[in-house]
Amino acid sequence: MIDNQRLPQHIAIIMDGNGRWAQARGMVRSKGHQAGVEAVDRITSECSRMGIRFLTLYTFSTENWNRPPEEVNAIMQLLITSLVEETFMKNNVRMRVIGDRERLAPEVRKCIEDCEDHTSANTGLTLVIALSYSSRWEITDAMKRIAQKVKDGTLEPEDINEQTVAENLESHFMPDPELLIRTGGEQRISNYLLWQCAYSELYFTDIFWPDFDEKALYNAIEDYQHRERRFGKTSAQVKADTERK
Ligand code: IPE
Ligand code: IPE
Ligand code: MG
Repeated sequence: MIDNQRLPQHIAIIMDGNGRWAQARGMVRSKGHQAGVEAVDRITSECSRMGIRFLTLYTFSTENWNRPPEEVNAIMQLLITSLVEETFMKNNVRMRVIGDRERLAPEVRKCIEDCEDHTSANTGLTLVIALSYSSRWEITDAMKRIAQKVKDGTLEPEDINEQTVAENLESHFMPDPELLIRTGGEQRISNYLLWQCAYSELYFTDIFWPDFDEKALYNAIEDYQHRERRFGKTSAQVKADTERK
């Protein structure tokens, strides 16, 4: 059973296994991405209904640009057709994209910019799409911004702290995820939210992303709720802290 009082406020997901899901059914990989969109709709709606504040979905990585051009094109086309504003408006979802937009085709860029603009005043779930994203790219980009501020004389090197780094990340508007889920059986981070996941609870499942459903999400949240998050302290300290609350 899930304790609704102790839900993570931010869940990040590495949606992996679309290609293998399709291949296991004798279909082309792009069919797997199509089926993956349905899982996105399902999980976004459910997180929204549960009152989760942020959901960050790894949709396309910097490294994914190295896939065959047909697959990249199919994913980009799918993105344009699946970012349906009406669904976001209906569910009060605010949509944001993080990632290197300069590499995106103009029509993809326009589509996400419109969607971000039109949903910006929504007050429910914030759905963050990591697109053309990698964490090393994001951190490097933050370093450039910080260096520029130092060069402009608005920031002293000795004043740089963890908060400065966090504030200069493109994803500065979101809290760190408490829970990171990876579907598809691999147990790696694949250049996702390296800074933000410093203390996230990691949950790996063999389920391919297109099969990931509400029940699988509850299992992940339930597992998370059984973890003891110590943040470097001892178990006794954590228990004493909880009792004091
Ligand atoms: C995840 O599924 C989606 C993207 C990376 C775009 P994959 O396409 O990586 O599927 P597998 O891992 O090959 O099965
Ligand atoms: C990670 O999946 C990226 C996304 C889910 C968008 P990959 O399938 O690209 O990861 P690797 O290459 O197996 O690590
Ligand atoms: Mg994969």
